[in-house]
Amino acid sequence: MPLTTIEAIRSDDVAGLTYCRALEAGQILLFPRAPFELPAGDRAFLLTRRQAGAGYHKNIAYRPQRDRVTGVVKQAADDADRLRHILRDYSRRVAGFAATLLPTYARAWRLDFASFRPQEEAGRSLPPHARNDRLHVDAFPTRPSGGDRILRVFTNINPTADRVWLTGDNFERLAERFALSSGLLPAVQRPSLARRLRRLARSLGLPVTVRSPYDSFMMGFHHFLKGNLEYQQAAQTERLAFPPASTWLVFTDMVSHAVLSGQYALEQTFIVPRESLALPEKAPIAILERIAGAKLA
Ligand code: SIN
Ligand code: FE
Repeated sequence: MPLTTIEAIRSDDVAGLTYCRALEAGQILLFPRAPFELPAGDRAFLLTRRQAGAGYHKNIAYRPQRDRVTGVVKQAADDADRLRHILRDYSRRVAGFAATLLPTYARAWRLDFASFRPQEEAGRSLPPHARNDRLHVDAFPTRPSGGDRILRVFTNINPTADRVWLTGDNFERLAERFALSSGLLPAVQRPSLARRLRRLARSLGLPVTVRSPYDSFMMGFHHFLKGNLEYQQAAQTERLAFPPASTWLVFTDMVSHAVLSGQYALEQTFIVPRESLALPEKAPIAILERIAGAKLA
């Protein structure tokens, strides 16, 4: 079972890095009750929000660095302000809680976007690479990580319904099976004119994203897994139901996952530097570099 349930945080487990190790080994840490404050009034307000153009915006996003919300339908100025305040408070509280649980990560992590997910996931119509109901590991098109890790904290704020996931093999198993056979790893190792041109453009001050071979692989792998129906159908999976008010933490660049149903979840992403890991040899970049026999970032 990829799930470790935590009723109360044990300080010796914090000091002993037990939680970091469990996450880095591919465990999902589950808190049956939200381990940080989420005022009832804020939750009730969130349940009334609607997101804009559900095909384009996957979620309502909050950017902590800019204190800015995107992806929400046009609303009265007061409501827009209230939503921003609620997401700001949520982001701060979840970061405070996660820093208590994982202090060695908190010293160096980057606070990435938070999101609110108001759409029902069952039967959602999205383009194939955006579909949440196909198993995948996460990679961000606009924020290459250079080998750092994607840690996400989810909270189900639905008052009555579970959020239901499938989880499958973790990254090591998937990479052993598909990194070479898919052709993706050899492809990202070849010198690429596109990458050189992007570097040049960036050195001239243009706002282009330069992906390392690692990031190109992870983006390609995300699409490859979602598009591989044979793999999707044959994969050995476990069904996990996250009840109302529960919170769970997971390295989504490692644990393959799909969401089958559920509506109204909050989520905060942290980018954890490679140097902060307790088990660096289990990081996707280390696994891929072993298979490739070369540095990838
Ligand atoms: C995902 O990262 O694939 C989405 C998970 C969720 O929204 O529950
Ligand atoms: Fe995902």
